[in-house]
Amino acid sequence: MSLDVGLDMSSPEFKNRAYALYDRWRVEEPVHSMGTTGGQQAWLITRYDDAVEALKNEERFTKNNRSLQAPGEPGLLPDKVFGLINNNLLGSDPPDHTRLRSIVSKAFTPGVAESLRGQIEEITGRLIGELRQKGGGDLIDEFAFPLPIYVICQMLGIPPEDHALFRKWSDDFIAAATDIEKIRGVQSSLEAFASYVNGLIEERKAKPQADLITELIRVQENGDRLTREELSSTIFLLIVAGHETTVNLIGNGTLALLEHPDQLALWRGNPDLDSTAVEELLRFYGPVEISTNRWVREPFEWHGKQLQRGDLLFVSLASANRDPSQFEDPARLDLTRKKNRHIAFGSGIHFCLGAPLARLEGSIAISTLIRELPNLRFVVPREEIHWRPGRLMRGLQRLPVLV
Ligand code: HEM
Repeated sequence: MSLDVGLDMSSPEFKNRAYALYDRWRVEEPVHSMGTTGGQQAWLITRYDDAVEALKNEERFTKNNRSLQAPGEPGLLPDKVFGLINNNLLGSDPPDHTRLRSIVSKAFTPGVAESLRGQIEEITGRLIGELRQKGGGDLIDEFAFPLPIYVICQMLGIPPEDHALFRKWSDDFIAAATDIEKIRGVQSSLEAFASYVNGLIEERKAKPQADLITELIRVQENGDRLTREELSSTIFLLIVAGHETTVNLIGNGTLALLEHPDQLALWRGNPDLDSTAVEELLRFYGPVEISTNRWVREPFEWHGKQLQRGDLLFVSLASANRDPSQFEDPARLDLTRKKNRHIAFGSGIHFCLGAPLARLEGSIAISTLIRELPNLRFVVPREEIHWRPGRLMRGLQRLPVLV
């Protein structure tokens, strides 16, 4: 039996009701049928232990759908679009994944993140100053968004005037991500994105700079460790991942605090809470609702459901992070929570590469915001604050505040 709630999982209404539905599904239908997408049956894993198992089991699940296709069989997406989205570490299995991750990982160590602290503090201070001067504004557009995008563009070497250009392409992709039919619908945005990335590569080839794009070009040109297609796709992944996630940590985290004034007051008065508080905000309203696509390699039965070769598998990180078998009183926001093995950054070999950077940005942004703006408050009633559409992420459309 499927607990069909008749709700489109990419709708804002689903996000409003999601935690209550996850509570039911974890008990009654832990491998939840999401119906079909692009002709493929999709399943959602909702329990914590199963979620970790699914994220770690590379024998059972592949990230590369083409590995399941017979030679000559047409792909689900045109080659150009497929290549842009998937020819990177998040779309590959070992040994390709191991090779690609080792190339990019040097740029994302905790040491590199820490070296950006000064810049992150400076931008945070400037954006808060602007909010204060205006007496408030939309916290998403005017604070949560500009900070991470500035940092990732700075690392990659993308000029600030280009931000507005690719924001729409990136947003289009994220709203469609995980749904092959919807991705076909945003093909023109993705083609424009691909041309933009290729243009950046050509520019850097002609004029190398001290940035990550130039470094990746060097790796590509100096041997056989990175193909030209992988180079574009990796830059695409870093722009999108750096762009669409940390904004939600800052936005959702601030929302959770405004909804829980006791916890907000507790953190304001205790700077020692910075690290447990950020982990709890990641658990409570995680920026990534469900994992990216995985496919079943061979048929098997799981909690009474028959999974077939080629079926799609998603892990609800949001549901796993509210599983009472792992978290005490999971629906409670507790910034002092000690036992908190949340999986907001995933698990296994695809564990988020940007986690040290995201944690640092989130911690500086939110802790500075609440301390510098003691009168931070909602402008509109909570019911008028809406989640953005899309299955993959949990993020707010707008968060109007007074300061
Ligand atoms: C709070 C912010 C962030 C969250 C919650 C987050 C979450 C995640 C999750 C859940 C995954 C694994 C997806 C899966 O297995 O299906 C992932 C992978 C990844 N993330 Fe993040 N992310 C964040 C910020 C960032 C940033 C700032 C970057 C860097 C620009 C980044 C780069 C990546 C990359 C490259 C991968 C793929 C890793 C691999 O396949 O080995 N992320 N992230």
